[in-house]
Amino acid sequence: MTTEWVDELAGRVAGAIDAHRLESRQRGLAAYGAVATGGVARQALTEPELAARRWLVQDFAARPGYSVSIDAAANVIVRRAGRDAGAEPVMTGSHADTQPLGGWLDGAFGVVAGLEVMDALDSLGAATRRPLDVVMWTNEEGSRFAPGLMGSVAYTAPERLAAFLSVTDAQGVRFQDARDAAVSDFKTHAGRQGWTWMERPLATPVHAYIEAHIEQGPVLESQGLQVGCVTAIQGVRWYRVTVPGRSAHAGTTPLANRDDAQAKAVALAHAVLSHAAHCGDERLRVTIGRWDCAPGSINTIANRVIFTIDARHPESAALDAVRAAMDAALPDGARIEVLQDKATVHFAPPLVALATTACQALGLTHRQMLSGAFHDAMPMAGFCPSTMLFAPSIAGVSHHPAEDTAIADLTACTRALAWCLVHLAEPVTDQS
Ligand code: GLV
Ligand code: MN
Ligand code: MN
Repeated sequence: MTTEWVDELAGRVAGAIDAHRLESRQRGLAAYGAVATGGVARQALTEPELAARRWLVQDFAARPGYSVSIDAAANVIVRRAGRDAGAEPVMTGSHADTQPLGGWLDGAFGVVAGLEVMDALDSLGAATRRPLDVVMWTNEEGSRFAPGLMGSVAYTAPERLAAFLSVTDAQGVRFQDARDAAVSDFKTHAGRQGWTWMERPLATPVHAYIEAHIEQGPVLESQGLQVGCVTAIQGVRWYRVTVPGRSAHAGTTPLANRDDAQAKAVALAHAVLSHAAHCGDERLRVTIGRWDCAPGSINTIANRVIFTIDARHPESAALDAVRAAMDAALPDGARIEVLQDKATVHFAPPLVALATTACQALGLTHRQMLSGAFHDAMPMAGFCPSTMLFAPSIAGVSHHPAEDTAIADLTACTRALAWCLVHLAEPVTDQS
């Protein structure tokens, strides 16, 4: 089998990516958890997410040559069989969960892009030696259950699952119970529909992983480029800070007699944000995204504040400096918990090169770039050769109902994905 033959087939599969089919599945998915005023509310393992996963799988599970599986982290995988059933699969996909109020493409696009490649392969009757897997990872966002990336972390490091099971959401629901309900929902539905399905062991080997995603930032759009070939994901640390105080009357308690949790928390938050604003490093990102104050009464001094800090940077020394600024300003009795600590991950150079070659072969304008957001490809990079392809985000907006990308750009990115997946899955002819 010559390289030219594979390049030619990869070009035909990329050409069979159908913008209308892609858009229609993308819009169909956005209906699950759609909010009347705009955006999508489909947090991890809630009913809208489970329904969305059922709907996506439904299209493929009954097709000849397809099977579906679920693992102990409730990750759901659609498999297109390869000629060599024992060969390690090539994997693509992303996540179907969203922020509490998110956009229609974050995660969803990577899943839809992978399924569209399967449709394109089917439309040409193309066969591959390796199976092709499209995965829907569980709880990528981390907004319902912290940390994020639970499904892909558990898949690549099964010993980490036990610690996730006891994590609770804001309503006190344990991840374990939500996971169990999702697995049982999948099995019941699969049984009813007569799907061919399996339980997939965590850490089942994968030959290579490529995830398509929207950029969620302004780089590609501002440079007028169609595709980003991602070389690395910057480091991220999440903290939960608890500041205690003592409740007292707002009108009668002199300032000098107060132990005001709110005043102490605001001072700490100010110190961290000031560090970010004045350290002179424009690559540093610091976000205080959640702030809970108890008892939450207008005329009672707060007896407890809990807030979160999300810090990101490609270099760990810069993240250490954020932690030092927090420690230096920590009020008496306050406590910092680390919810997530992920160092910068670099993707496999041969896969980044393959993605770049795909863009060149397909005539797509592109650049190599760093990801500011974290993705399931982050843990996958330590498990098998991995990389990502980005589509431009309009105005760089994401984690917001206005998140959007032109269908032509989603299509271009999916074409590059198809080209890469065909090469990695090793096409076969009936003569080969
Ligand atoms: C993913 O949603 C992230 O916060 O980077
Ligand atoms: Mn995402
Ligand atoms: Mn996200």
